[in-house]
Amino acid sequence: MAKKGRVFSGARPTGRQHLGNYLGAIQNYVALQDDYDCVYCIVDVHALTTVETTQDLKQNTAEMVLDWLAAGIRPAETIVFVQSHVPQVMELHTYLSMVTPLGKLTDLPTFKDKVRQQPENVNYGLLGYPVLMAADIVLYKADVVPVGIDQAPHLEFTRETVRSFNYRYNTKALIEPQAKHTEIKKVLGIDGVEKMSKSLNNHIEIAATPEETTARVREMVTDPARMKRTDPGNPDICNVYTMHKIFSPQSDVEMVNVECRRAGIGCVDCKKLLAKNMNAQLEPLRTKRAEFASRPGYVQDVLDDGARRARVIAEQTMQEVRKAIQLP
Ligand code: TRP
Repeated sequence: MAKKGRVFSGARPTGRQHLGNYLGAIQNYVALQDDYDCVYCIVDVHALTTVETTQDLKQNTAEMVLDWLAAGIRPAETIVFVQSHVPQVMELHTYLSMVTPLGKLTDLPTFKDKVRQQPENVNYGLLGYPVLMAADIVLYKADVVPVGIDQAPHLEFTRETVRSFNYRYNTKALIEPQAKHTEIKKVLGIDGVEKMSKSLNNHIEIAATPEETTARVREMVTDPARMKRTDPGNPDICNVYTMHKIFSPQSDVEMVNVECRRAGIGCVDCKKLLAKNMNAQLEPLRTKRAEFASRPGYVQDVLDDGARRARVIAEQTMQEVRKAIQLP
Protein backbone atom coordinates (compact mmCIF):
# COMPACT_ATOMS: atom_id res chain seq x y z
CA MET A 1 0.00 0.00 0.00
CA ALA A 2 1.26 3.51 -0.77
CA LYS A 3 2.47 5.28 2.31
CA LYS A 4 1.50 8.80 3.31
CA GLY A 5 5.06 10.09 3.37
CA ARG A 6 8.19 9.86 5.43
CA VAL A 7 8.41 10.07 9.20
CA PHE A 8 11.67 10.90 10.94
CA SER A 9 12.40 10.75 14.62
CA GLY A 10 15.53 10.77 16.71
CA ALA A 11 16.15 9.53 20.21
CA ARG A 12 19.20 9.84 22.41
CA PRO A 13 20.90 6.54 23.26
CA THR A 14 19.69 6.11 26.80
CA GLY A 15 20.18 2.36 27.08
CA ARG A 16 17.48 -0.03 28.21
CA GLN A 17 14.11 1.61 27.75
CA HIS A 18 11.49 1.87 30.47
CA LEU A 19 7.72 1.71 30.43
CA GLY A 20 7.50 5.49 30.05
CA ASN A 21 9.56 5.30 26.84
CA TYR A 22 7.52 2.34 25.68
CA LEU A 23 4.07 3.80 26.25
CA GLY A 24 5.03 7.38 25.38
CA ALA A 25 7.20 6.93 22.30
CA ILE A 26 8.06 3.42 21.15
CA GLN A 27 4.48 2.20 20.68
CA ASN A 28 3.89 5.28 18.56
CA TYR A 29 7.02 4.55 16.50
CA VAL A 30 5.70 1.05 15.90
CA ALA A 31 2.21 2.23 14.88
CA LEU A 32 3.53 4.89 12.48
CA GLN A 33 5.16 2.17 10.39
CA ASP A 34 1.76 1.13 9.05
CA ASP A 35 1.11 4.49 7.40
CA TYR A 36 4.55 5.97 6.75
CA ASP A 37 8.02 5.16 5.58
CA CYS A 38 9.87 5.57 8.83
CA VAL A 39 13.41 6.60 9.64
CA TYR A 40 14.41 6.21 13.28
CA CYS A 41 17.76 7.54 14.35
CA ILE A 42 19.82 7.06 17.47
CA VAL A 43 21.27 10.52 17.94
CA ASP A 44 24.69 9.81 19.40
CA VAL A 45 26.08 13.18 18.31
CA HIS A 46 23.32 15.01 20.16
CA ALA A 47 24.15 12.88 23.18
CA LEU A 48 27.66 14.33 23.22
CA THR A 49 26.22 17.70 24.26
CA THR A 50 25.42 16.34 27.69
CA VAL A 51 27.28 13.10 28.40
CA GLU A 52 30.35 13.16 30.57
CA THR A 53 31.75 9.90 29.30
CA THR A 54 31.32 8.10 26.01
CA GLN A 55 32.26 4.63 27.19
CA ASP A 56 28.63 3.52 27.46
CA LEU A 57 27.43 4.90 24.10
CA LYS A 58 27.84 1.66 22.17
CA GLN A 59 26.19 -0.48 24.81
CA ASN A 60 23.38 2.01 25.38
CA THR A 61 22.71 2.13 21.65
CA ALA A 62 22.55 -1.65 21.35
CA GLU A 63 20.24 -2.02 24.36
CA MET A 64 17.89 0.62 23.03
CA VAL A 65 17.79 -0.89 19.56
CA LEU A 66 17.00 -4.31 21.04
CA ASP A 67 14.03 -2.81 22.86
CA TRP A 68 12.84 -1.11 19.67
CA LEU A 69 13.09 -4.29 17.63
CA ALA A 70 11.43 -6.38 20.32
CA ALA A 71 8.60 -3.84 20.52
CA GLY A 72 7.92 -4.24 16.80
CA ILE A 73 10.11 -1.88 14.80
CA ARG A 74 10.54 -3.70 11.48
CA PRO A 75 14.06 -3.09 10.15
CA ALA A 76 13.29 -4.58 6.73
CA GLU A 77 10.97 -1.61 6.11
CA THR A 78 12.04 1.00 8.61
CA ILE A 79 15.48 2.57 8.52
CA VAL A 80 17.07 2.27 11.96
CA PHE A 81 20.49 3.86 12.15
CA VAL A 82 23.03 5.76 14.21
CA GLN A 83 23.34 9.48 13.51
CA SER A 84 27.15 9.58 13.32
CA HIS A 85 27.21 6.79 10.73
CA VAL A 86 25.94 9.32 8.19
CA PRO A 87 28.35 12.26 8.54
CA GLN A 88 26.51 14.35 5.93
CA VAL A 89 24.37 15.59 8.82
CA MET A 90 27.33 17.55 10.20
CA GLU A 91 27.85 19.21 6.84
CA LEU A 92 24.19 20.17 6.57
CA HIS A 93 24.28 21.40 10.16
CA THR A 94 27.02 23.85 9.19
CA TYR A 95 25.12 25.16 6.18
CA LEU A 96 21.93 25.57 8.18
CA SER A 97 23.84 27.44 10.86
CA MET A 98 24.51 30.21 8.31
CA VAL A 99 20.80 31.04 8.10
CA THR A 100 20.24 30.77 11.86
CA PRO A 101 20.08 33.98 13.88
CA LEU A 102 21.98 33.47 17.12
CA GLY A 103 19.22 35.08 19.17
CA LYS A 104 16.76 32.39 18.14
CA LEU A 105 18.98 29.73 19.65
CA THR A 106 19.63 31.55 22.90
CA ASP A 107 15.87 32.19 23.25
CA LEU A 108 14.83 28.53 23.03
CA PRO A 109 13.43 27.21 26.32
CA THR A 110 15.33 23.94 25.91
CA PHE A 111 18.63 25.84 25.74
CA LYS A 112 17.78 27.90 28.81
CA ASP A 113 16.89 24.70 30.69
CA LYS A 114 20.25 23.17 29.84
CA VAL A 115 22.11 26.28 30.95
CA ARG A 116 20.33 25.97 34.27
CA GLN A 117 20.97 22.20 34.51
CA GLN A 118 24.65 22.21 33.54
CA PRO A 119 26.03 25.72 34.09
CA GLU A 120 29.55 24.32 34.18
CA ASN A 121 29.22 22.92 30.64
CA VAL A 122 27.45 25.41 28.39
CA ASN A 123 29.15 24.27 25.23
CA TYR A 124 28.71 25.47 21.66
CA GLY A 125 27.17 22.13 20.67
CA LEU A 126 24.40 22.69 23.16
CA LEU A 127 23.52 25.97 21.49
CA GLY A 128 23.59 24.32 18.08
CA TYR A 129 21.52 21.33 19.23
CA PRO A 130 18.36 22.49 17.39
CA VAL A 131 20.35 23.20 14.22
CA LEU A 132 21.67 19.63 14.24
CA MET A 133 18.15 18.37 14.88
CA ALA A 134 16.86 20.43 11.93
CA ALA A 135 19.65 18.91 9.83
CA ASP A 136 18.52 15.41 10.86
CA ILE A 137 14.98 16.08 9.80
CA VAL A 138 15.63 17.78 6.47
CA LEU A 139 18.55 15.58 5.44
CA TYR A 140 16.10 12.68 5.22
CA LYS A 141 13.38 14.82 3.62
CA ALA A 142 10.92 14.02 6.38
CA ASP A 143 7.32 15.04 5.80
CA VAL A 144 6.22 14.35 9.32
CA VAL A 145 7.91 14.40 12.72
CA PRO A 146 6.10 13.03 15.78
CA VAL A 147 6.65 15.50 18.59
CA GLY A 148 5.73 15.77 22.19
CA ILE A 149 5.29 19.11 23.85
CA ASP A 150 8.98 19.40 24.86
CA GLN A 151 10.23 19.13 21.28
CA ALA A 152 7.58 21.33 19.66
CA PRO A 153 9.74 24.50 19.71
CA HIS A 154 12.51 22.56 17.95
CA LEU A 155 10.18 21.53 15.21
CA GLU A 156 8.96 25.07 14.75
CA PHE A 157 12.60 26.14 14.60
CA THR A 158 13.21 23.51 11.90
CA ARG A 159 10.34 24.82 9.81
CA GLU A 160 11.62 28.38 10.04
CA THR A 161 15.13 27.24 9.17
CA VAL A 162 13.87 25.47 6.06
CA ARG A 163 12.06 28.61 4.95
CA SER A 164 15.15 30.75 5.57
CA PHE A 165 17.39 28.38 3.69
CA ASN A 166 15.10 27.97 0.72
CA TYR A 167 14.58 31.73 0.55
CA ARG A 168 18.25 32.65 0.91
CA TYR A 169 19.36 30.23 -1.78
CA ASN A 170 16.26 30.51 -3.92
CA THR A 171 15.61 26.79 -3.88
CA LYS A 172 13.03 24.21 -2.97
CA ALA A 173 15.68 21.70 -1.97
CA LEU A 174 14.55 21.43 1.65
CA ILE A 175 11.15 20.17 2.72
CA GLU A 176 9.26 21.85 5.54
CA PRO A 177 8.21 19.07 7.92
CA GLN A 178 4.82 18.87 9.60
CA ALA A 179 4.59 18.25 13.31
CA LYS A 180 2.46 15.30 14.28
CA HIS A 181 1.49 16.08 17.81
CA THR A 182 1.39 12.86 19.67
CA GLU A 183 -0.84 12.44 22.61
CA ILE A 184 1.90 12.18 25.17
CA LYS A 185 1.11 9.55 27.72
CA LYS A 186 2.69 10.92 30.83
CA VAL A 187 3.60 7.80 32.68
CA LEU A 188 4.52 8.37 36.30
CA GLY A 189 7.39 6.56 37.95
CA ILE A 190 7.09 4.24 40.92
CA ASP A 191 7.20 7.31 43.19
CA GLY A 192 3.79 8.21 41.77
CA VAL A 193 4.86 11.85 41.47
CA GLU A 194 7.51 12.39 38.81
CA LYS A 195 7.48 11.31 35.19
CA MET A 196 9.12 7.92 34.81
CA SER A 197 12.81 8.48 34.23
CA LYS A 198 16.03 6.56 34.43
CA SER A 199 17.90 9.43 36.08
CA LEU A 200 15.34 9.53 38.92
CA ASN A 201 15.57 5.75 39.25
CA ASN A 202 11.79 5.54 39.47
CA HIS A 203 11.47 3.42 36.35
CA ILE A 204 10.60 -0.12 35.32
CA GLU A 205 12.60 -1.47 32.39
CA ILE A 206 10.72 -3.13 29.56
CA ALA A 207 13.30 -5.89 29.55
CA ALA A 208 13.36 -6.42 33.31
CA THR A 209 12.88 -9.99 34.51
CA PRO A 210 9.45 -10.90 35.91
CA GLU A 211 11.01 -10.95 39.40
CA GLU A 212 12.55 -7.51 38.99
CA THR A 213 9.24 -6.21 37.67
CA THR A 214 7.34 -7.60 40.61
CA ALA A 215 9.85 -6.09 43.04
CA ARG A 216 9.58 -2.67 41.37
CA VAL A 217 5.78 -2.77 41.36
CA ARG A 218 5.85 -3.66 45.05
CA GLU A 219 7.69 -0.36 45.66
CA MET A 220 5.07 1.71 43.84
CA VAL A 221 3.54 4.55 45.83
CA THR A 222 -0.24 4.33 46.12
CA ASP A 223 -2.94 6.66 47.41
CA PRO A 224 -1.12 8.30 50.36
CA ALA A 225 -4.39 8.72 52.28
CA ARG A 226 -4.70 4.97 52.50
CA MET A 227 -2.61 4.28 55.58
CA LYS A 228 -4.05 0.99 56.77
CA ARG A 229 -5.31 -2.08 54.95
CA THR A 230 -8.82 -1.30 56.18
CA ASP A 231 -8.83 2.29 54.83
CA PRO A 232 -10.70 2.70 51.57
CA GLY A 233 -8.50 3.93 48.70
CA ASN A 234 -9.02 6.23 45.76
CA PRO A 235 -8.01 4.58 42.47
CA ASP A 236 -8.46 7.86 40.60
CA ILE A 237 -5.27 9.24 42.14
CA CYS A 238 -3.36 5.95 42.33
CA ASN A 239 -0.60 5.21 39.86
CA VAL A 240 -1.07 1.47 40.39
CA TYR A 241 -4.63 1.80 39.12
CA THR A 242 -3.40 3.86 36.13
CA MET A 243 -1.06 1.01 35.29
CA HIS A 244 -3.86 -1.52 35.69
CA LYS A 245 -5.79 0.38 33.03
CA ILE A 246 -2.84 -0.06 30.68
CA PHE A 247 -1.79 -3.62 31.45
CA SER A 248 -4.70 -5.50 33.00
CA PRO A 249 -7.76 -7.12 31.49
CA GLN A 250 -10.96 -5.12 31.79
CA SER A 251 -12.37 -7.47 34.46
CA ASP A 252 -9.38 -6.83 36.75
CA VAL A 253 -9.58 -3.09 36.16
CA GLU A 254 -13.23 -3.06 37.16
CA MET A 255 -12.62 -5.28 40.17
CA VAL A 256 -9.80 -3.03 41.44
CA ASN A 257 -11.88 0.09 40.85
CA VAL A 258 -14.69 -1.29 43.02
CA GLU A 259 -12.74 -3.19 45.65
CA CYS A 260 -10.11 -0.52 46.35
CA ARG A 261 -12.81 2.03 47.16
CA ARG A 262 -14.34 -0.26 49.78
CA ALA A 263 -11.07 -1.71 51.05
CA GLY A 264 -12.01 -5.06 49.59
CA ILE A 265 -8.52 -5.41 48.11
CA GLY A 266 -5.33 -4.22 49.76
CA CYS A 267 -2.44 -2.48 48.02
CA VAL A 268 -0.19 -5.50 48.36
CA ASP A 269 -2.58 -7.80 46.50
CA CYS A 270 -3.48 -5.09 44.03
CA LYS A 271 0.21 -4.73 43.14
CA LYS A 272 0.71 -8.49 42.90
CA LEU A 273 -2.09 -8.60 40.39
CA LEU A 274 -0.63 -5.71 38.45
CA ALA A 275 2.83 -7.30 38.33
CA LYS A 276 1.32 -10.55 37.10
CA ASN A 277 -0.59 -8.80 34.32
CA MET A 278 2.35 -6.61 33.39
CA ASN A 279 4.62 -9.62 33.10
CA ALA A 280 2.05 -11.44 30.99
CA GLN A 281 1.67 -8.47 28.63
CA LEU A 282 5.42 -7.96 28.27
CA GLU A 283 6.31 -11.63 28.00
CA PRO A 284 6.17 -11.89 24.16
CA LEU A 285 8.29 -8.77 23.81
CA ARG A 286 10.84 -10.01 26.30
CA THR A 287 11.08 -13.39 24.60
CA LYS A 288 11.69 -11.73 21.25
CA ARG A 289 14.27 -9.44 22.79
CA ALA A 290 16.18 -12.34 24.28
CA GLU A 291 16.09 -14.08 20.92
CA PHE A 292 17.46 -11.01 19.08
CA ALA A 293 20.10 -10.51 21.76
CA SER A 294 21.29 -14.10 21.32
CA ARG A 295 21.94 -13.67 17.59
CA PRO A 296 25.59 -12.65 17.22
CA GLY A 297 25.97 -9.39 15.34
CA TYR A 298 22.25 -8.92 14.77
CA VAL A 299 21.96 -5.38 16.12
CA GLN A 300 25.12 -4.35 14.30
CA ASP A 301 23.77 -5.76 11.04
CA VAL A 302 20.52 -3.85 11.46
CA LEU A 303 22.40 -0.61 12.12
CA ASP A 304 24.86 -1.16 9.25
CA ASP A 305 22.03 -1.81 6.83
CA GLY A 306 20.12 1.20 8.17
CA ALA A 307 23.15 3.45 7.72
CA ARG A 308 23.63 2.25 4.15
CA ARG A 309 20.05 3.08 3.24
CA ALA A 310 20.17 6.38 5.13
CA ARG A 311 23.36 7.44 3.32
CA VAL A 312 21.66 7.06 -0.07
CA ILE A 313 18.94 9.55 0.89
CA ALA A 314 21.43 11.83 2.64
CA GLU A 315 23.82 12.06 -0.28
CA GLN A 316 20.97 12.84 -2.66
CA THR A 317 19.82 15.71 -0.44
CA MET A 318 23.35 17.03 -0.03
CA GLN A 319 23.90 17.16 -3.76
CA GLU A 320 20.81 19.33 -4.07
CA VAL A 321 21.88 21.47 -1.13
CA ARG A 322 25.42 22.06 -2.42
CA LYS A 323 24.05 22.92 -5.82
CA ALA A 324 21.52 25.37 -4.33
CA ILE A 325 24.25 27.14 -2.38
CA GLN A 326 26.35 27.20 -5.57
CA LEU A 327 29.39 25.81 -3.87
CA PRO A 328 32.21 25.73 -6.40
N1 TRP B 1 15.90 16.39 20.39
C1 TRP B 1 15.31 15.10 20.50
C2 TRP B 1 15.20 14.74 21.99
O1 TRP B 1 15.89 15.30 22.81
C3 TRP B 1 16.10 14.06 19.78
C4 TRP B 1 16.20 14.34 18.32
C5 TRP B 1 17.34 14.59 17.62
C6 TRP B 1 15.13 14.35 17.39
N2 TRP B 1 17.04 14.78 16.31
C7 TRP B 1 15.71 14.63 16.13
C8 TRP B 1 13.74 14.16 17.50
C9 TRP B 1 14.93 14.74 15.00
C10 TRP B 1 12.97 14.27 16.36
C11 TRP B 1 13.55 14.56 15.11
O2 TRP B 1 14.41 13.90 22.33
